[in-house]
Parts: sequence; C-alpha cells; structure tokens
Amino acid sequence: MESNPNSSQSNTSVRIAGTGSYLPEKILTNADLEKMVETSDDWITSRTGIRNRRIAREDEFTSHIAAEAAKNALEQAGIAAADVELIIVATITPDTITPATACYVQQHLGCPRAVAFDVSAACSGFLYALEIARHSVGAGAFKNALIIGAEKLSAYINWTDRNTCVLFGDGAGAAVLLPAEEGSGKILSSHLGTDGAQTELLNIPGGGSACPITVENADQQLATLAMQGREVFKHAVNAMKRASLHAIESAGLQIEDIKLVIPHQANLRIIDAIVDRLGVPKEDVFINLDKYGNTSAAAVAIALDEANREGRISKGDKILLVAFGAGLTWASAVIEW
Ligand code: UT7
Repeated sequence: MESNPNSSQSNTSVRIAGTGSYLPEKILTNADLEKMVETSDDWITSRTGIRNRRIAREDEFTSHIAAEAAKNALEQAGIAAADVELIIVATITPDTITPATACYVQQHLGCPRAVAFDVSAACSGFLYALEIARHSVGAGAFKNALIIGAEKLSAYINWTDRNTCVLFGDGAGAAVLLPAEEGSGKILSSHLGTDGAQTELLNIPGGGSACPITVENADQQLATLAMQGREVFKHAVNAMKRASLHAIESAGLQIEDIKLVIPHQANLRIIDAIVDRLGVPKEDVFINLDKYGNTSAAAVAIALDEANREGRISKGDKILLVAFGAGLTWASAVIEW
C-alpha cells in the first residue's frame, strides 16, 4: 500500500527549524571485523562502500544517543526543551519493548509538556516520523515537534554472521519542526509506502510475542537482524526510485530542480543504482555510509544534519530525502530549505 501523494497537504506549511546528530565515540573498522569473522576490507568496501561504523558503549542506550542528537537540533532551532510539545522517536532498537524510547528521551531532555511515542518503520522510520509530525504541527495540534531517528543496532547484531555484522552501526539524527513563516522554507511533499507481504526478507525474528527468547532457544541468537540481502537490494532500488519520483511530482518539480539527494545509507551500490536511474549527477548526492555504515532509522537524519552543518544546503534549495527498510517500508520527502 502506498500513501496517496495528494493526501500529504497540511493545513499550514511546516519547516525544519533545526537539525542535530550524535555518533558514539567507538569506531569499528573493516580491519577489526576481519579479526571477528571471515571477511575482508576489500569485500566490504567493494560490495557496500562501508569502511567504519560507530558502536555505542554498554551503558549508552538508544534513548541516550537520541537525546544527544535532539539537544543539537533544539539548540539550532532555538527551542527550549521545556517548550517541546511532541517527541517522536523512530527506532527498531528501543531501550525496552515498553515504554517507548521517546518516553526516556522526554525524561533525559526535560520536556514535561511533550507527548512522546515511538514509530517502528525500520530504515524509513525518520521519514514516517517527519510525515506524522508535519501533519500534527500543520493542523495546529502541536506548536512544534522534535523527531529523532536513533538506533543501537550493535545490540541486535549476530557478531558471528558476516552477512549482517559488517553492515550496521549505531547513531542518531534529529530535527525540529515548526510552522513555516513568511519567506522561510517548508516541507513541500512526501510519500510513504509499505509492503507487508515481504516481512520475511529483513527482520529480527525473536524477542517479540511470536517468538519469545527462552532457555531452550537462547543459543540461536534469534533476537538479531536477519536479512536476505540480494532480494532486499532489488526491492530497495525499485522502491526508492519510485518514491523519489512520487515526492518530486507531488511537489510540482522536476528532477533537475533537486539540489541535493539525501538517500538512505545502506549500500553505495544501491545509491549508485538509484541516482543512475533518476539521472541525478553523483556530486548532488550526500553520502556518509563510509563512516557510519547502515544506521537504519538514524541514517537519513544524520546525513541531513551533516549536509546542513557542512553547508551543502542553502536557503531556497530543494532537497530530496528517500529511505527504504524492513516491512518492507519506503518513504520520501521534498523539502524547500
Ligand atoms: O537498510 C535496510 C535495507 N538493507 C539493504 O538495503 C541491504 C541490501 N543488500 C545489500 O546491500 C547486499 O545484498 C549485501 C551487501 C548485503 C550483500 O552483497 P551482495 O553483493 O548481494 O552479496 P551476496 O549476498 O550475494 O553474497 C555474495 C557472496 C556470498 O558467497 P558465495 O555464496 O558467492 O560463495 C556470500 O557468502 O559474498 C559472501 N559474503 C561475504 N564475503 C565476505 C557475504 N557477506 C560477506 C562478507 N565478507 N562480509
């Protein structure tokens, strides 16, 4: 099912007033992984483009990583934590199954007025949160919103499985949404989609009600990521291309109008395939997966913040965000900065 592109018009336009990100200090290199599983720097870089990823400390949970990214976004937006009205955390690696990671974030930041909940849409989660928040702020239900993509994927990786352990990392990115003002930028369009017929391609099979972790199955590492990589790859390319075109068309724009594409950071070959099919010049695409690997819901959010802080986006630029993940889910948004 895909959302109707025409349904994504809010009552009032909404802008991104600030972005932030946070990456844990510890770096895990391809050389480190060569000592852990049968792999090579050459295989990882040529097949994925990934060189390093960040790993959170044992006492650093998803909510802590999320809160650090959020502080940076709030500071840039000039919004005090006490005034935040809505917090949405997109994550598939929550601190606990319940309560939501957003509740811990509310506590860490000191946002007593905020309504706080999580969104579970895997790597598309930050853009799902953006869509919910933009309509909530646009309709006047909340004066502002803090959206965060945050993951501690290292806690859900089977570190003996070379098919997955070389791909993922920890991190968080955040954005603050406010009503657009005269002359400010705004979110122009967005597009979401889900295909629940493909749940088996990418999932964490254990640890939920379908498959609780028990003494009997404890040695099977069922609460770790499992992926049929080659199949996911094909779906990712097709879905992100389609989602990009939907959002650009809904915004009334052409590909040539897009100044910067910020795609989900899973695999350089996936990104290359999408931009080739869209006909976007490679220099107009933001890439940081070499540094962080795939951080799922955090990836687009971290990339947006880095692009913003590195001066890759100027006022008035139209940018395209696009993501794809487990579910299967996909999402895109076009933003005028
Ligand atoms: O974020 C959510 C969305 N996720 C994605 O978009 C990920 C999509 N998938 C991918 O990025 C790629 O499919 C992978 C990077 C996961 C795998 O790349 P691939 O080119 O599709 O490789 P493959 O799975 O077809 O495996 C090729 C070979 C296999 O060996 P054989 O059967 O040809 O002998 C694998 O066993 O590479 C082997 N292999 C490895 N070798 C060295 C798999 N992982 C590794 C490894 N090091 N880490």
